[in-house]
Amino acid sequence: MENGLRNPSETTGKVITCKAAITWGPGEPFVIEEVRVDPPQKMEVRIKILFTSICHTDLSAWQGENEAQRAYPRILGHEASGIVESVGEGVMDIKKGDHVVPIFNGECGDCLYCKCEKTNMCERAGVNPFMTVMVNDGKSRFSCKEGKPIFHFLNTSTFSEYTVVESACVVKIDPDASLKTMTLLSCGVSTGVGAAWNIANVKAGSTVAIFGLGAVGLAVAEGARARGATKIIGVDINPNKFTKGRAMGITDTINPRDFEKPVHECIREMTGGGVDYSFECAGISEVLREAFLSTHEGWGLTVILGIHTSPKMLPLHPMELFTGRVIIASVFGGFKGKTQLPNFAKECMQGVVNLEEFITHELPFEKINEAFQLLIDGKSVRCMLHL
Ligand code: APR
Ligand code: ZN
Repeated sequence: MENGLRNPSETTGKVITCKAAITWGPGEPFVIEEVRVDPPQKMEVRIKILFTSICHTDLSAWQGENEAQRAYPRILGHEASGIVESVGEGVMDIKKGDHVVPIFNGECGDCLYCKCEKTNMCERAGVNPFMTVMVNDGKSRFSCKEGKPIFHFLNTSTFSEYTVVESACVVKIDPDASLKTMTLLSCGVSTGVGAAWNIANVKAGSTVAIFGLGAVGLAVAEGARARGATKIIGVDINPNKFTKGRAMGITDTINPRDFEKPVHECIREMTGGGVDYSFECAGISEVLREAFLSTHEGWGLTVILGIHTSPKMLPLHPMELFTGRVIIASVFGGFKGKTQLPNFAKECMQGVVNLEEFITHELPFEKINEAFQLLIDGKSVRCMLHL
């Protein structure tokens, strides 16, 4: 069938055998194997994945950087797009054939958090790195041919031709949108643009510093540019990131290794006392401190987007907050996925955010190990895997 989607009338309610990239242990090469994918249960959706890209969070999980993430065998991957193959009992808003993007931070719509305007957390389907099974019955929907269960990852597990997710973690996308570029809304772009729009609420004419110019940092740049920020300083230890950065809103670049003094001093000098907003997109404690000190006293705001490995503590003395600087973290750019992502997707289709720029490489799914190496080597922003 078109897009490799098997005929749903033949697969609905049945186990599907398909290919997935399995992680057997920390840092061990991905092995493409046949797996069995159970039908979706109550309030679940089974998706035929068409595209998946690789985010730094997949890299950290693969390397086993966080104890919470050490569960094997496991199917990683959380940035993807695809077509619904079938839905479980009770799913009303999604049907087979819908074009969808899975989200690792779901929105059930019913819990205390979903009903609260102030947060995009969700009690049932919010992001949870400790979760390795489905919330319904505490079981996995994946198994090896021998029957051994395979663990889920971040509510999504997209390194598989088919995956099963909570319906709270599925966002329906306009069928006219390019699924390939919409993949980026699944994590990196929404996280970065959303942090600039929903969390910092960047104002026109303001100054911004972004630490770490991967997809997340570049998405912050796109978001800040779209909001009319006039100075957007990109900080990265890999100078190869600056060319792409300049194409995506970065107006000034700093490589910390080119200076004896700390970066925050350079930034304060460049901006008459500090930037209005800084964004930490590297997941490094020392970088977070620099980001914090780069903002202007009195009103500077630092947003944490990077995932920091335990057991690091916030690299600040509480008294340093008496300068009037504020620090906050953001999950999924503050977007309530199900209710707000379709509109964000529309804005992207209208060109408010340039999605194409993020895709630097494309490879067949089978070359997933090569794709990880591109990210490790700092060569790719996003490598799109075609399933
Ligand atoms: N100072 C500045 N930049 C740094 C530093 C540093 N000390 N160390 C690393 N970087 C840069 C890297 O060179 C790279 O360009 O941070 C960037 C990180 O980008 P990616 O690895 O592509 O990661 P990305 O997918 O953008 O995710 C960024 O958000 O989702 C989390 O876990 C993820 O912490 C990671 C962050
Ligand atoms: Zn991610």
